[in-house]
Amino acid sequence: MSETKNDESLITDDIKTTLLEAKKLSHEFDYKLFEDINLKLEKKESIAIIGMSGSGKSTLLNILSSLLEPKSGEIIFDNQDIYKIKKKKLLNIRREDFGIIFQAHYLFRGFSANDNLEIATFLSGNSIDESLLKKLNIDFVINQGVGELSGGQQQRLSIARVLTKKPKIIFADEPTGNLDKDTAQIVLDTLHEYIKENNAGMILVTHENDLAMQCDKVYKLENLQLEELK
Ligand SMILES: Nc1ncnc2c1ncn2[C@@H]1O[C@H](COP(=O)(O)OP(=O)(O)OP(=O)(O)O)[C@@H](O)[C@H]1O
Ligand SMILES: [Mg+2]
Repeated sequence: MSETKNDESLITDDIKTTLLEAKKLSHEFDYKLFEDINLKLEKKESIAIIGMSGSGKSTLLNILSSLLEPKSGEIIFDNQDIYKIKKKKLLNIRREDFGIIFQAHYLFRGFSANDNLEIATFLSGNSIDESLLKKLNIDFVINQGVGELSGGQQQRLSIARVLTKKPKIIFADEPTGNLDKDTAQIVLDTLHEYIKENNAGMILVTHENDLAMQCDKVYKLENLQLEELK
């Protein structure tokens, strides 16, 4: 993103609404997980992926989010196949443009909640959004050590940290797994608001059907394919 853009590319960037496109993705480990899957994520759009345990949802999300190269197929971001570009460029995309929320959150233990957020601001040049912390109901624990937070508070802190980076795409693997229904809803509302306000997109893996149905599109990973449910 260091090249200066000419006027023409600025205009096309503005008109272009596709954030991410997966083309003919196939992958397998011990058994085939999916074959020739196509998927498009537009700006301001949220896509949910549901499916049985072991069907390959996390694997698909890892592939889409730059963490795992597929056996075949392409992931197009910013007009390029992310697995065909230089490693350094891919790391930059992962750091600056992609916000990956794992079910097991990777916070720096031994540091305070606030330190964990400051790392994100340091890497991205953004500042901590107090209203985001209030929305997620973690503003009052911000000076506590990560080890002193409950599982659900840690999960919300890791989500706040990802959003502080201001990513273009959020990839979330069961981000509400540890949360009660009300808190899960608050987290999902926060993610939806974020993508609408920031022209971003989200791909969400969840086993909670009611949360999935709040997304713009819902797919079920079954029989090696993504079946469109909504
Ligand atoms: N790195 C890996 N090496 C070998 N096999 C793997 C690897 N990652 C996943 N698998 C296998 O691929 C299959 C799909 O796993 P995946 O984690 O994608 O499923 P999932 O749909 O996310 O399931 P869950 O709902 O339980 O999270 C499983 O059989 C799993 O054992
Ligand atoms: Mg999974």
